[in-house]
Parts: sequence; C-alpha cells; structure tokens
Amino acid sequence: EMGGHAHFMAKEISEQPEVVRRALRGRLDGRFHTAHLGGLNLEAREARAIRRVKIIGCGTAYYSGQVGAQLIEELARIPADAEPASEFRYRNPVVEPDTLYVAVSQSGETYDTLAAVQELRRKGGRVLGLVNVVGSAIARACDGGIYLHAGPEVSVASTKTFTATGVAFALLALYLGRIRDLSPAEGARVAAGLRALPEQIEQVLAQQEHIARVARELAEHRAAFFIGRVRGFPVAREGAQKLKEISYLHAEAYPASELKHGPLALIDPGLPTVAVLPDDELRDKNLTTLGEIAARRGRTIVVAHSPVPGVPPQDVILVPRNEPELDPILMTVPLQLLAYHAALTLGHDIDRPRNLAKSVTVE
Ligand code: BG6
Repeated sequence: EMGGHAHFMAKEISEQPEVVRRALRGRLDGRFHTAHLGGLNLEAREARAIRRVKIIGCGTAYYSGQVGAQLIEELARIPADAEPASEFRYRNPVVEPDTLYVAVSQSGETYDTLAAVQELRRKGGRVLGLVNVVGSAIARACDGGIYLHAGPEVSVASTKTFTATGVAFALLALYLGRIRDLSPAEGARVAAGLRALPEQIEQVLAQQEHIARVARELAEHRAAFFIGRVRGFPVAREGAQKLKEISYLHAEAYPASELKHGPLALIDPGLPTVAVLPDDELRDKNLTTLGEIAARRGRTIVVAHSPVPGVPPQDVILVPRNEPELDPILMTVPLQLLAYHAALTLGHDIDRPRNLAKSVTVE
C-alpha cells in the first residue's frame, strides 16, 4: 500500500506532481486567464465586495494559510492574513460582513478549526473551506469551498496537502484578482506558472540523493534555524515544523529580516541555518543576512534558484524558477525531503511521530 516506498511520508511527498495536476484539473480558464471554482458559492458581485480575507487553520494548515494570504494580497490586492484557528477561537474576534473567512484543514475534523468556523457562522461570517476530506465536519460547516483532491494522507506530518492548499489558494487569488484589477496578461502568467509546477516538482524530487546527504549532516546537530523573507517566511516555518515533528530536532523559524534583532546572538558553528533564497527582489537583502551568519561562522543550508556566493554547492539545494508568487509552493518540497531524511538518519518512527496525532478532534 506504500507503493514501494519505505514510509507513507515518502510516498506522499512523491505524489505531489500528480496532486498539483489534480488540484488544477478543470479549474484553469485559458480564454479569460482566470480560475473556475465551482464550489465557492459566492456570486462575483459578492466576491468583489470583499474588503479583507482572514485565513485560519492549525499546524501545517496554518502555514499554508500564510502562503495563501500572501497570494491573495499580491494577486487580488485584498488585505489578507492568517492566524492559528486555535488562537482565533479564544479571543472573541470581531466578525465583519465584508471579510471573507477561509478555514484550511486536511482532515476537516480538527476541533479547534471546526469550533472557529461554527463561531464565525453564528456571528454571520462567510466561511470558505479549503479541505481535503470530502463531506468532513468542517466541509459541511462552511458556506462553500475548494476541495483539495490530494487523496488520503496517512503520514502525521502533512506534505502533499500543504502543496495542494498552496495551489488552491493560488486559484482563489487568481479568481479574486481577475474580477478586480489583475490584467489578463498577469492572469496568464500565473496560470502558466501553475501549469509548470508538476514538472518542476519532479525536478526537485530527482535531487533526493543530494538532499539526503545534506540531511545526514543536519541530523548531527541538536537544533537549526530556518529563515526566509516575506514569501520565504511561511516556507521557513513549514520547514521548521516538519523537522520538529519527525526528527525531534529543535527547529525555529524567523523572518530573515528579524535575525539581527535577536536570534543572531545564538549563531555559532554548532547551530546551522536553513535559508530560503529565491531569486526575487529580496535576494540581495537575503544575501546580506547570509553574510552576517557566515561572519559568526554559522553554517548555512540554502534552498535557492541559482548558486549562492560564499556557500559551497554541496550546501545548496537548487529548485527551478517559477513565478515569484508561486515560489513558496515549490521551495517547500526540498524542506519536506530534508526533514524526512534527517528523521530517517536518526531512526525515528516517521509516519507516527511521538506525541502527535494526524487530526486532533478534541479540545
Ligand atoms: C495537527 C497535526 O495536530 O493538526 C498536524 O499533527 C496538522 O500535522 C494539524 O497539520 C491540522 O490538521 P488538519 O487536518 O486540520 O489539516
């Protein structure tokens, strides 16, 4: 049932090209360069009136929500942010009629997320679900949504669902953008990027041996920092989450811009930093941060689009270039493999990490 893989996690990571194809199937409109999302249950008139988007979810679903918030802000120019559902439900949030709420959940059964959705509905909030399991409690509690069609995810550490959620958010952002200010040419650019993803993920998967070598060295340490700027930050957070969940190494994610405001004090040869370094408008800033780490003799592992000055090639994981807004989707894949191979090196129970459950259906 694991299709020749040693663990469900490895199988689920390897399925991601197909997961993206399924998430896109029938949803891209090549004529108007927009997305068709049949289950939104939202008139274009209503969608145009949205003034804010608030995304909630737990764990990996929350980090994918941060990716989604940036996609929506960048492509649709609607202010958007993500918050852990577990926090949201306990702080009596102000529920606004012109805010679109989006709940993200693989299982559709996470109690904190479900309780937040129910509270939102009680107060008149409109909630979309980005859910994998069809007919689940969260899917039923929402006004409408987008099914992820990622197939069953067995490993506790979520991988393919993160990717499918990123794609679903890109489609939602494309749709919301195209009924507002996003030009047909920009819509076409994003759609082409989405169509290129499956093959590009294959290219990342093909580097598994190289990533495994990097992971074996990482596993010799007790802790690691993960850094990224803006689009790269949720990638860093998800990479740290994966490493924590299955390798039990202490992993902490920071915005690269915050490093000098505190965590830099901890950098030394014993604490490696995993950096997310896309070739985007922030590359120079990120290179400066890498220089600050190198000056403290800190070791770096870099996920990048091109060779990184000052970092030996064996410590760089290269991913293909896509459209900058879609970088978080592709750049997370090598970090999933990094965590997997670190846990493999350490001999842990990868699919069933200690203290964790696949879905937490209690308070
Ligand atoms: C956590 C799981 O408790 O729930 C995480 O251990 C998961 O792996 C999170 O990301 C959210 O789950 P779901 O099913 O709501 O996406």
